[in-house]
Amino acid sequence: MLKDQELKFSVAPMMDWTDRHCRVIHRLMSRRARLYTEMVTAQAVIRGDRQRLIGFDSFEHPVALQLGGNDPALLAEAAKIGADFGYDEINLNCGCPSDRVQGGAFGACLMREPELVGACVAAMKAAVAIPVTVKCRIGVDDQDPEAALDALTASVRAAGVDALIVHARKAWLQGLSPKENREIPPLDYERAYRLKQANPDLIVAINGGIRAPAEWAGHLAHLDGVMIGREAYQNPEILLQADLLLFGEAAPVTDAFAMLEALEPPIAAHLERGGRLHAFTRHLVGLFPGRPGARLFRRHLAEHCVSAEAGLADLRAAVAHVSRYEQAAVAA
Ligand SMILES: Cc1cc2nc3c(=O)[nH]c(=O)nc-3n(C[C@H](O)[C@H](O)[C@H](O)COP(=O)(O)O)c2cc1C
Repeated sequence: MLKDQELKFSVAPMMDWTDRHCRVIHRLMSRRARLYTEMVTAQAVIRGDRQRLIGFDSFEHPVALQLGGNDPALLAEAAKIGADFGYDEINLNCGCPSDRVQGGAFGACLMREPELVGACVAAMKAAVAIPVTVKCRIGVDDQDPEAALDALTASVRAAGVDALIVHARKAWLQGLSPKENREIPPLDYERAYRLKQANPDLIVAINGGIRAPAEWAGHLAHLDGVMIGREAYQNPEILLQADLLLFGEAAPVTDAFAMLEALEPPIAAHLERGGRLHAFTRHLVGLFPGRPGARLFRRHLAEHCVSAEAGLADLRAAVAHVSRYEQAAVAA
């Protein structure tokens, strides 16, 4: 069972973006945000290099593993592996429209297969004691969003799902790239609100196009959680506002500079294990939006923080572009 408020604020699963290094950065800015992994297929979890694919640091909790797949037995096995790894939740992807995922008949295609999704959820629920949730769209292609989302919800509820996260737009499975499928089908927040009204005892979170922290409370007046994707990645400093605004708790650090200081020990440990600085710094390009020196900061990251030899001194030098500039502005 998900406890009260556990899904109130989360950072969305994003392939190639929300890897373990990114999640450490996000966690340093909010203790309360629920963090999601990139989607990993059930087959990969079962057959692949598990440490590489789903390994994570205990510092990241609460963290949810998102699985892709459509085979109840494989999903149950992968969910069990995820639970044994220590994840706090298993989430099933019913929203990804990429060709590769469509080829495997999972992701957003599953909006057309509510009974199968119910069977997947039931199998995962039987395999693990942690919450099992579903992230879905409001429909695909010519589906009626009222009927499609109701059918999916009824099926996963009967299977004991712990929460539904609704990316509040359709996916169009033909002719749009995944990127276009996050922009072109219109958002319909009201549809997600109606779902919550019709299922008051189901935990429902909303996702899609939510940006400024000022928008968060408006959604939370209608349902249980907001999930932020691109804005959290591209402008991560918004996460500094989450704990105070939504939970009445102080943020773990005061600003991005303090976050970067706190990030040094995890980076040092990563470098010691033979990892590259770039694994972290590639997730930092959204820092300092609009601040004097931000462009130099980004350029320094790109030019000096990518090589295998790059170390903490290079990151500090990048950051110095921003702070130095600000002091100059104050002095002037
Ligand atoms: C680069 C990228 C990768 C994504 N990968 C996933 C994924 O692995 N699983 C998933 O459910 N959604 C994925 N999404 C969709 C996001 O989770 C989210 O639903 C979508 O971006 C809409 O939310 P936003 O407007 O707050 O970004 C991805 C989005 C982006 C931008």
